[in-house]
Amino acid sequence: HEAEAYRTDLMTITRHVLNEQSKYPESRGDFTILLSHIVLGCKFVCTSVNKRNGFFTCTDFGKYFIQTQYLEWGIKLDSVSGYEVDKAGLAKLIGLAGETNVQASSGEEQKKLDVLSNEVFVKALVSSGRTCILVSEEDEEATFVKPSQRGRYCVVFDPLDGSSNIDCAVSIGTIFGIYMVKDNDEPTLDDVLQPGKNMLAAGYCMYGSSCTFVLSTGNGVNGFTLDPSLGEFILTHPDIKIPKKGKIYSVNEGNAKNWDEPTKNYVEKCKFPKDGSSPKSLRYIGSMVADVHRTLLYGGIFLYPADKKSPNGKLRVLYEVFPMSFLMEQAGGQAFTGKQRALDLVPKNIHERSPIFLGSYDDVEEVKVLYAAEE
Ligand code: AHM
Ligand code: MG
Repeated sequence: HEAEAYRTDLMTITRHVLNEQSKYPESRGDFTILLSHIVLGCKFVCTSVNKRNGFFTCTDFGKYFIQTQYLEWGIKLDSVSGYEVDKAGLAKLIGLAGETNVQASSGEEQKKLDVLSNEVFVKALVSSGRTCILVSEEDEEATFVKPSQRGRYCVVFDPLDGSSNIDCAVSIGTIFGIYMVKDNDEPTLDDVLQPGKNMLAAGYCMYGSSCTFVLSTGNGVNGFTLDPSLGEFILTHPDIKIPKKGKIYSVNEGNAKNWDEPTKNYVEKCKFPKDGSSPKSLRYIGSMVADVHRTLLYGGIFLYPADKKSPNGKLRVLYEVFPMSFLMEQAGGQAFTGKQRALDLVPKNIHERSPIFLGSYDDVEEVKVLYAAEE
């Protein structure tokens, strides 16, 4: 118990990735640097979300760190997207307890948090000097980093997913995937219009009752929890494996009347199994990160299928479907579009959508069988 109480050997994300990279003698630490900038963006969003939810956990060290970064990125502290920041305003920006919150209408403020998060991620990624092309859900066009700041990595991300859940303090998250550019003297959109299986790494950060960062660099999946007193993510869920079969299905059943037959049949089987097994439980948060995180830890299936109104479903291939599919496969599960392995899909445009069924190996296998029978 003493060892528990005084844990002295802290496995941070940086240390974890450095360990992984040490297997590659040619590695120059670029990936570690890139990731530390993504992590910084996540810490920022975490702090902003906490502020929005009325509590505050950042350390003085964290405040100093964020302030320094702002100056570096040229963000004026008194002009950040509608947050009332005065000269000593960093405290207000990141939400010291007791400070008044911005009294904007909730819709407006919610939008600001999306926009602010995107701005922070873009600046963090560009200033890392390790990126080449950025694709964000918030930006219609891809960002090509100018040659003087360019590196070899392409990052596709959704800075704040599930933002309709902000107002009721339900979990939301950031999702990202990382590709390597072919030739960084001549980057083209084709460098990001690649199948998900070509991703080098993928992950998400969930802003929930704790702040959790889940990462795969193609070598299994690891989960880290933010220790607010240190401002560091510490490895708390090493080598996550999804249960082979689960007891939970997760879907927006309000769309059922427009589903295709295989989806209808599958959900019917979840509720009225004919093989003597117990019905599955339904859990649906409506925040992909939270629904996928639960699926990863407890097992089961998450689906956002096609329907008559949205023949490609709702979720975006590059920065929602691919990263989550990558993590699922790395954890021993599967991800299927209704037609093929999700990670084999080749997107034709950066904001393309796809139906998705992902989770426990056996549960996704059942869906595949139903779609195969349809053909
Ligand atoms: P968003 O990017 O506009 O936040 O939408 C994505 C979210 C996902 O987090 C979630 O899985 C899905 O939309 C829920 O959609 P619905 O409300 O149709 O069930
Ligand atoms: Mg989204």
